[in-house]
Amino acid sequence: MHINPDDLDAKSNYKMLIGSIIPRPIAWVSTISTKGVRNLAPVSFFTCVGRKPPRVSLSIQAGADGNLKDTFVNIQDTGQFVTNMATFPDALSVHRSAIEFEPDEDEFTLLDVDSAPSQVVRPPRVKSAPIALECEVFKIFEDPKKMGAIVWGTVVNYYVRDDIYLPETGRLDITALAPIGRLAGEYSLTETVFVPPVNENLIQSREGKRMLRLDGRRDDYSPIETDTWTPAGSVLEP
Ligand SMILES: Cc1cc2nc3c(=O)[nH]c(=O)nc-3n(C[C@H](O)[C@H](O)[C@H](O)COP(=O)(O)O)c2cc1C
Repeated sequence: MHINPDDLDAKSNYKMLIGSIIPRPIAWVSTISTKGVRNLAPVSFFTCVGRKPPRVSLSIQAGADGNLKDTFVNIQDTGQFVTNMATFPDALSVHRSAIEFEPDEDEFTLLDVDSAPSQVVRPPRVKSAPIALECEVFKIFEDPKKMGAIVWGTVVNYYVRDDIYLPETGRLDITALAPIGRLAGEYSLTETVFVPPVNENLIQSREGKRMLRLDGRRDDYSPIETDTWTPAGSVLEP
């Protein structure tokens, strides 16, 4: 079947996009307001856009109330942010940091997430995150309809947990990490790796198989069909 995006409203287009572009990496973004209030929010419209200088992109939509999200306001006001790698042990805190708390509420404290000072920028990093990219704003592309914005940030410092950095080659020991990704409204765990080719029997044995659920829910369960899902990406349950 073919679906014309012009026939879909914003919510339906969003469902198409979040189901089509999977898995998405999750930047667990730490920012700080001009008043010094620390904020955390997951952003899965996240990717790298440059190597030298290293640059990342975040796409931040309007909040459920139609206003700009604190993360974007803080980035715009201070020109700085940190993307922390979201990992399995932190999954619940990552998820809960998508609740739209008030701008004067310190989300590290509220969510009981430990911070550590960054090296170059003011927003702290998440202490438990094995990798954090300290960024300074390079460019902000604002949607004239104020529906959201794209932020390009230049990475000004890489924090990498010592055991992950392999000094002989300068690569990261990625198979020692437990990153979580975003599917549509679900999360995924990356725990298998391969470089093609793999055994043809293995490919056939997996054909038609559904993903393995780790949460004990029905096979066809989708958070998108619940009352706690919002097209702003925010989480409603406390
Ligand atoms: C896994 C996950 C990924 C998300 N990705 C995005 C995103 O890419 N862009 C966005 O605007 N909101 C995204 N959200 C929603 C924000 O995290 C949420 O609106 C959050 O409350 C914003 O917080 P703030 O108001 O403190 O900035 C995501 C939520 C979750 C749970």
